[in-house]
Amino acid sequence: MTLREKHMDIEYKEFPSKPELYRFIHEKLWLIGEETNDFYAVLSNAAALFWMELPDVNWSGFYLYKDGRLVLGPFQGKPAVAEISIGKGVCGTAARELTTQVVEDVHSCCNHIACDFRTSSEIVVPIIATGRLVGVIDIDSPVTARFDEQDKAGLETAADILAGLCLKA
Ligand code: SME
Repeated sequence: MTLREKHMDIEYKEFPSKPELYRFIHEKLWLIGEETNDFYAVLSNAAALFWMELPDVNWSGFYLYKDGRLVLGPFQGKPAVAEISIGKGVCGTAARELTTQVVEDVHSCCNHIACDFRTSSEIVVPIIATGRLVGVIDIDSPVTARFDEQDKAGLETAADILAGLCLKA
């Protein structure tokens, strides 16, 4: 099977457990990284991968750290806010604290920047390469409390893989 054929294998599937789903996603991220050294192309395919494989998601993508703020990167979903100050919103909080933020109900979170009225819960995971913030993974869901510890672990490993691919670029 060629690399391209392996990519064509990306489509929504049911997995018996979240750890198995995330193992599949991590494998696909490595394949995505094998195809190019261009980090923006890697992130574009990663946003599409999350969108295709994670159930109950209405936005998946990246904000990249640039000149002291977060700037919208590759994503799938509705058009979103283009720039976020560090400390603002869930993304800005993850960037300031350098820790994953899981919000069970965005409507009861005062520091949430609404981009899509359908969003109910959200997870934001920082991507850190050699101690420096590269950006954040941002995934939104229309389901309240959609993201649990297994999603957190799976997406933190995804962020580590992306950090490695960023250093290769
Ligand atoms: N919800 C984010 C803003 C970006 S949108 O969700 C795509 C936040 O509060 O940081």
